[in-house]
Amino acid sequence: MNELSAALPVISARKLVKSFPMANGAELKVLRELEMQIHESEMVAIVGMSGVGKSTLLHCLGLLDSPTSGEITYRDDSRTWRSSDLSEEDRCRLRNHFIGFVFQFFHLLPDLDVLENVLLPTFISQETGEWNKKRSQFEARGESLLERVGLKGRERQAPGTLSGGERQRVAIARALMLSPKLLLCDEPTGNLDSRTSESIHQLLRELHQDLSTSILVVTHDPDLASRADRRLQMIDGRFRSESDNQQVTDSS
Ligand SMILES: Nc1ncnc2c1ncn2[C@@H]1O[C@H](COP(=O)(O)OP(=O)(O)O)[C@@H](O)[C@H]1O
Ligand SMILES: [Mg+2]
Repeated sequence: MNELSAALPVISARKLVKSFPMANGAELKVLRELEMQIHESEMVAIVGMSGVGKSTLLHCLGLLDSPTSGEITYRDDSRTWRSSDLSEEDRCRLRNHFIGFVFQFFHLLPDLDVLENVLLPTFISQETGEWNKKRSQFEARGESLLERVGLKGRERQAPGTLSGGERQRVAIARALMLSPKLLLCDEPTGNLDSRTSESIHQLLRELHQDLSTSILVVTHDPDLASRADRRLQMIDGRFRSESDNQQVTDSS
């Protein structure tokens, strides 16, 4: 990585607006000219009250939904993509290779076993013939990720036979399968008890230290938020960050 790429964010949002139409014909403006950026290898926590727009933002950043206006820029070591200028092929590629998504409710496929769930991104990204050629390589990576998240020996189990914490570990392994630049986690422990949550937080912190993946995590957990490199508080459809608070204090 050269100095220039180290200085540039892996993802940035400019004047991001997302509105939803309401039944009465009015529109609900959820994101209001939101600005943000995440740098290489950074772990950033988003906090904010329920309904403030955190999931909406992650869905837009993760290309699961489109912003009403504004722009999102994605950048890796060799290329830059702008959300206003993406082909359908670019969208699929970014969604699959650039971004890993971890949801509150795991979203594992019940009819696939644990290893097959982890391999899902590879099924989506490859032609069948190509996939068959790389099968052993993909399986080896899937098995090694499962070992990394503490699930060695569980490869052939059905997700339904795992505990909530174990399911989230599978979902984390799946999200990392294609080595994304950015991991988006939407309340990854929102559905888990406090002890299990702590072990998932520990895992996310370890992965963040081991890998160069940037992590953006929405959380209500003060402990996880306090250990992130940066915290962004969402209020009224945009961020009030700690550094904003600092600047206010510095200039007063
Ligand atoms: N698809 C949608 N259609 C209409 N309204 C939506 C949709 N998705 C989210 N909203 C509304 O947007 C607001 C923000 O929701 P959300 O992003 O889920 O909040 P958070 O994740 O911070 O709890 C809420 O008022 C919610 O009802
Ligand atoms: Mg949410």
